[in-house]
Amino acid sequence: MKTNFNLRPYNSFGFDAVAKYFIEINEIQQLEALIQNDVFRNEKRLILSGGNNILFQNDYFDGLVVHINTKGIEILQEDENEVVVRAQAGEDWPYFVKTMVAKGYHGIENLAHIPGKVGAAPVQNIGAYGMELKDSFLRCEAISVTTGEKHVFMKDDCRFSYRESIFKNELKGKYIITSVDFQLKKNAPLNLDYGNIKSYLEQNGMENPTLQQLHDAICAIRDAKLPDVKQIGSCGSFFKNPVIEQAQFEALQKEYPNIPHYPEADGKVKVPAGWLIEHSGPSTGSGTASWKGWRNEHVGVYEKQALVLVHYGGGKGQDIVELANRIQESVKNKFGIHIFPEVNFV
Ligand code: EPU
Repeated sequence: MKTNFNLRPYNSFGFDAVAKYFIEINEIQQLEALIQNDVFRNEKRLILSGGNNILFQNDYFDGLVVHINTKGIEILQEDENEVVVRAQAGEDWPYFVKTMVAKGYHGIENLAHIPGKVGAAPVQNIGAYGMELKDSFLRCEAISVTTGEKHVFMKDDCRFSYRESIFKNELKGKYIITSVDFQLKKNAPLNLDYGNIKSYLEQNGMENPTLQQLHDAICAIRDAKLPDVKQIGSCGSFFKNPVIEQAQFEALQKEYPNIPHYPEADGKVKVPAGWLIEHSGPSTGSGTASWKGWRNEHVGVYEKQALVLVHYGGGKGQDIVELANRIQESVKNKFGIHIFPEVNFV
């Protein structure tokens, strides 16, 4: 266990936050032993996976940070149509997806290139390009932080919804996910319906892409739109796309006929927060400019995707908190819609 440990390499925003205690878990037995340890029992705890969806608001974390780094991918079951694959929580998510695609397994290809680790993927039910983690999730194993007992959560136990699960709500901080089992298909239709996937493939002469070509296309589309966290600090989408009532949407559409929108099953309408942010802005003396591409010395709104807040270096978590508050307020003032962060504040 280390003390006064700088978490900068462990949060993709790249903020300097110092943890009072830090431990890296490479074997599950280490975790089982840790749960009996006094520091673990008495201190405030933070379970850190890839750190790709975490905002350290302060420079100091007064407690223990547990970094899960366990590795391993194994096939549990296989027949001619399907395969059940177990991945340990510390496996790199993009590597896992790439490995499954190379084997010809379908079900997570549209989730290619999302930075993070396998163990964090169910926590916020990661999603992209018309696919969500829950679509291929079979079950996960987790350890109770109070009793050290193992528990298996089946899909229905996890209460998945858009960027949500039981692990982010009722069970927050109560369990540590140690492995995830996926049910993947050996053959399945590809999902090309979202946004510009089809047009990108057509432009590149791939009308009928293979699984591998789709995977690579999604990596390229993401690269073009989202910052590389090795170069610019960010957590991907900072806010969730808000879901509003049909009546409120119709009123908005009258005023903004081009507003993009996606109907939800319950009759409500999902509106892209990126569009709302792009079409609002910081108040200036001479009117209102767009937030998109706005920056001060340390932080800003990514120029190619307004949903992504970025840290250019030298800033503090509070700079992002202040910017996020200003954006929330201006979106509320202009459109009457409250947008909520998808990023976890610590
Ligand atoms: N838009 C704008 N301006 C912007 C950004 C977006 O007008 O600055 C418009 C686009 O033109 C488009 C719509 O908003 O009509 C949706 O944009 P996009 O396809 O880029 O997706 P998003 O809704 O902004 C979501 C996820 C992303 C995921 C993409 C692709 C959330 C919060 N974000 O973004 O997930 O990669 O769809 O599926 O649902 C993440 O969670 O970190 C993340 C990157």
